Amino acid sequence: MSATTTTRRTGVPELRARKGGEPIVCLTAYTAPVARRLDPHVDLLLVGDSLGMVVYGFDSTLPVTLDMMIAHGAAVVRGSVRACVVIDLPFGSYQESPQAAFRTASRVLAETGAQAVKLEGGAEMAETVAFLAARGVPVMGHVGLMPQAVNTAGGYKAVGRDPAAFERIRADARAIADAGAFSVVIEGTMEPLARAITEEVAIPTIGIGASPACDGQVLVTDDLLGLFAEFTPKFVRRYAQLGEQIDRAAAEYAADVKARRFPALEHCFGVKKG
Ligand code: KIV
Repeated sequence: MSATTTTRRTGVPELRARKGGEPIVCLTAYTAPVARRLDPHVDLLLVGDSLGMVVYGFDSTLPVTLDMMIAHGAAVVRGSVRACVVIDLPFGSYQESPQAAFRTASRVLAETGAQAVKLEGGAEMAETVAFLAARGVPVMGHVGLMPQAVNTAGGYKAVGRDPAAFERIRADARAIADAGAFSVVIEGTMEPLARAITEEVAIPTIGIGASPACDGQVLVTDDLLGLFAEFTPKFVRRYAQLGEQIDRAAAEYAADVKARRFPALEHCFGVKKG
């Protein structure tokens, strides 16, 4: 009898139970091959709507459609076996009403096989989070800097510096947690605010530009790999320079083709080596 190893995917309840424990490791993924590489190393793969900027070259996340999120989400699920997969609900697909959010979220879960969805918003989205959670849709919240609100915020600046904003974002996180979210992303805010929220809410906080006070961390993988070269946010550490490697590889390939060094004999069909 041969021994078989079965891999089980990390579920939402396991992540929820990590509050205050070993930090939760998250990265974004948009494609199956990248998901396959990241999967052994992370607890959670986030199919973020950042793909609009990173993959499609839009200058915001607003043009991202539900069909894009479903196609990329399904690819990431196919490419992974271990990590919990969470998919962003795109702008305009959930803000109108809890019912609209449920229609969107149920399509995402049914058509991708992902474990949960993420949506941006604070107190104003609490009713929607409660509606989804009560109907079998695990929700990750997202407070602080919210890229889908770029037009009302006037850019992608860190938030929560002044006392009023500090208290508003703190109340937003509390409202989302109390409504039944299983976790909340805190983006682009001051360490004392991230710390206060993390101490206050009973669910894990996942920080991006929100300090090590959070229960976990997420980064956009293309930033970490040096693939997204347009700008590097202050909170990113680059662990690789893949952009430069791609430049070098493409330049070498071009030189080889022009000099007829590629393809070589070993790359040809029907040619005997001499
Ligand atoms: O869209 C995204 O990738 C995100 C992360 C930056 C948290 O929301």
